[in-house]
Amino acid sequence: MRVLGIESSCDETAAAVVEDGRVALSDVVASQHEVHARYGGVVPELASRAHILNVVPVVQAALDRAGTTLDQIDGIAVTNAPGLVGALLVGLQTAKSLAWVTGKPLVGVHHLAGHLTAIYLEPDPPPMPHLALIVSGGHTSLVRVNGHGDLQELGATRDDAAGEAFDKGAKLLGLGYPGGAVIDKLAATGNPEAVAFPRSMTAGEHGADFSFSGLKTALLHHVRAHGVPDGQALADLCASYQAAIVEVLVRKTRRAARKHGLEHVQVCGGVAANQGLRAALRKAGEEDGFRVYIPPPARCTDNAAMIAAAGYHRLARGERDGLDLDAVPSAPL
Ligand code: KG4
Ligand code: ZN
Repeated sequence: MRVLGIESSCDETAAAVVEDGRVALSDVVASQHEVHARYGGVVPELASRAHILNVVPVVQAALDRAGTTLDQIDGIAVTNAPGLVGALLVGLQTAKSLAWVTGKPLVGVHHLAGHLTAIYLEPDPPPMPHLALIVSGGHTSLVRVNGHGDLQELGATRDDAAGEAFDKGAKLLGLGYPGGAVIDKLAATGNPEAVAFPRSMTAGEHGADFSFSGLKTALLHHVRAHGVPDGQALADLCASYQAAIVEVLVRKTRRAARKHGLEHVQVCGGVAANQGLRAALRKAGEEDGFRVYIPPPARCTDNAAMIAAAGYHRLARGERDGLDLDAVPSAPL
């Protein structure tokens, strides 16, 4: 089954063709980072406008690169929740129009279900059930994945998402948007013990919830007291800030894996591209005896291959959405 996937929930316009939920025949992403960089974050109206300009060429490129035509597509999957409503609507209208003119089945996909499915495009994906740490710009959750579309949330952030902590930290340090990758790069040559940042463990070690807003405030106080450093001191500050985020994510994941007896753990979402997090979780897995699965960095950040793969599972279950499918800005998992 060949599924065309379309994603436009935030600042990436993406389209992909995926076969049987396993093989990406094409995977095209048009990033808007340059549009938003000067504002230090995504400007919703600018995102919608850029999606309108990009969506048709991106879909065409995805079909061309897959060597396929719309006739050979068996279904259309589109992110319809959650996200910026104006941004979601662009992908959704495109998908609906294509479904209407071709008569192909349409399914809406929850963006986080997409992130959870990215790992199934890799050769050796995790078995069910497994534990998933979802860490993106908008979400931070620990989820028990019993099957595709069968999820149980164990904990989530009470304030900022992990990616938001990276982005807001980078903005404070004048490092531009999106900040995660920049902090990641600087942290690689820094000393993670240079500055002592708080590790918020909300409800003690055993709680599965997260909180990152205190960390952001601690960085603000540090910058007010000492200014924004440069050179090695900036690398040290980034490494220390990143270490505080990574340590909390890893400790909570280890606890949840142990508590729920899960021996397979996947990490997904944009922050899963972080080198520090990838290394720390792999080490924790070796120590605790759980296997860690992380998509390649380009499949951690937003893409449409993961949406097509998640859509495949809905279509394979016989699920269909009508042309009244709506964009939902905030939707539980
Ligand atoms: O999944 P994603 O592309 O979009 C959302 O669904 O939100 O995640 C974007 C987030 C941003 O906050 C970005 O700063 C963060 O992922 N990110 C990273 C890295 N690459 C992207 N955070 C830390 N290290 C990275 N290498
Ligand atoms: Zn995402």
